[in-house]
Amino acid sequence: MNRRAVLRLGAAAAGVGVVGVGWPSAAALLAPGQPGRLLRSQTALPEPYRVALPVPSRLAPVRTDSTTDHYEITQRVAELRILPGLPTPAWTYGGTFPGPTIVSRSGRRTVVRHRNDLPQPVVVHLHGGHTPAGSDGYPVDLILPTSGAMPADHAMPADHAMPGMPGDVAAGERAYAYPMNQRAATLWYHDHRMGHTGLNVWRGLAGFHLVADDESDALPLPRGHRDIPLMIVDRSFAADGSFRYPVTATGGVADAYMNGVLGDVILVNGAPWPVAQTDPARYRLRLLNASNARRYRLELDPQPAGGSALVQIGSDGGLLARPVGHDALELAPGERFDVVVDFSRYRPGSKVRLVNRLGSGSTAEVMRFDVTGRDRGDDSAIPDRLGAGVAPLAPQRAVATRTFVFRQRRGGAWAINDLAYRPGRALATPRLGTVEIWRFVTDFHHPVHLHLDHFQVLSRNGGAPGPYDAGWKDTVDVRPSEAVEILTRFTDYQGAFLLHCHNLEHEDMAMMADFITV
Ligand code: C2O
Ligand code: CU
Ligand code: CU
Repeated sequence: MNRRAVLRLGAAAAGVGVVGVGWPSAAALLAPGQPGRLLRSQTALPEPYRVALPVPSRLAPVRTDSTTDHYEITQRVAELRILPGLPTPAWTYGGTFPGPTIVSRSGRRTVVRHRNDLPQPVVVHLHGGHTPAGSDGYPVDLILPTSGAMPADHAMPADHAMPGMPGDVAAGERAYAYPMNQRAATLWYHDHRMGHTGLNVWRGLAGFHLVADDESDALPLPRGHRDIPLMIVDRSFAADGSFRYPVTATGGVADAYMNGVLGDVILVNGAPWPVAQTDPARYRLRLLNASNARRYRLELDPQPAGGSALVQIGSDGGLLARPVGHDALELAPGERFDVVVDFSRYRPGSKVRLVNRLGSGSTAEVMRFDVTGRDRGDDSAIPDRLGAGVAPLAPQRAVATRTFVFRQRRGGAWAINDLAYRPGRALATPRLGTVEIWRFVTDFHHPVHLHLDHFQVLSRNGGAPGPYDAGWKDTVDVRPSEAVEILTRFTDYQGAFLLHCHNLEHEDMAMMADFITV
């Protein structure tokens, strides 16, 4: 049965027109808070809390000059040690998952030359980067494998098929140039190949890219080994230890998982349910949900007396104007939350779990902090005023309001305004230097992501923004049947950029659109 037939059947059986159609277990798919379908591992799951939290190593530049830091990354297959006694062959940036962390200085150009020793074409995108179109990782601007092989599954899924596909195709390698004229923030880089992003990221193509600036360096926030990026993903494993993904012959996701692939193992920085030994002191945790489809509601367990265990200091686009205390944080795919946790609020020796209230069984656990360190020394603080440059954009300044409807097209793909993605077809042509209001309307959970510029959330269903909407964002978690308005100013670079759902299975199944800045 082909996808269309499956979808028609599902829609008829479920008796619904738009929302989450197509699956025999529609009720399970619409479980509160969690889009997608669980793919179980075929191996025994590793025991939780047996391995130490790894921190990805920082990549050293191969060369620096007066304006620019130059980096090189070779994408290659490598064997990871995730499961006890069973190697996991993965697609990696430089041999590790997550890839190495790049640290840029705001205002200093960063050039990353990627070489593709993988067996398939790739595309690299810097998520959260304020990047000119030619280096933004447009989905058909492929880097072909150095082997020269052009495998059969280069064919695009039918919904994407386009005669004379455009694209700036590079043989073997490409240098991506990032001006880095942007605030300090936690960015990440990941694959963005059209129709293959879900598979490629699942196989290991993701890493951190941090931006530092003088303004944030001047604040007394926790730093050094007490400033830790945490990349949270779910994965499933095949019997041979490899990452299991429901893939079709053309490299797309199998119909039954089109709603999103959920794994049963939680990895933090590539390790299953790891443990971090902490001092009784403040730590800055840069949380990234790099999962394909899974949403998390993160909480510390036990909570410290007095509440507000997670003090948010930053969002996707850098520091907030002021800290915001939370007992729990909800993260949709693509989102980052920068938080400070004060482990001196716990008794020495405490074991504090980071749990996921939207998970169950193995996916309800994320990692653990053991407050067994002895160094009480801590000169950090959370200042009452954090970032300048978070002044609210005024809605009266908006020169246009555009509506984008994120829903499943009748009998087919995930779409925006009922259009499946086609490279070169722009749904909007905003003018550089102007502010616009964009309205995202959904049928189902869709984390909506915008390239080029960060935005501010203006409203949810006509009311106030939600508790997780503060600051500059590039991805907003839009819930079922919701309308979210954002305000953004388009700046600096002319060209074609992307608006898409960051549920990677939705993205691959065409819930993506170009906009062209003019
Ligand atoms: Cu993180 Cu266009 O993606
Ligand atoms: Cu992006
Ligand atoms: Cu979506």
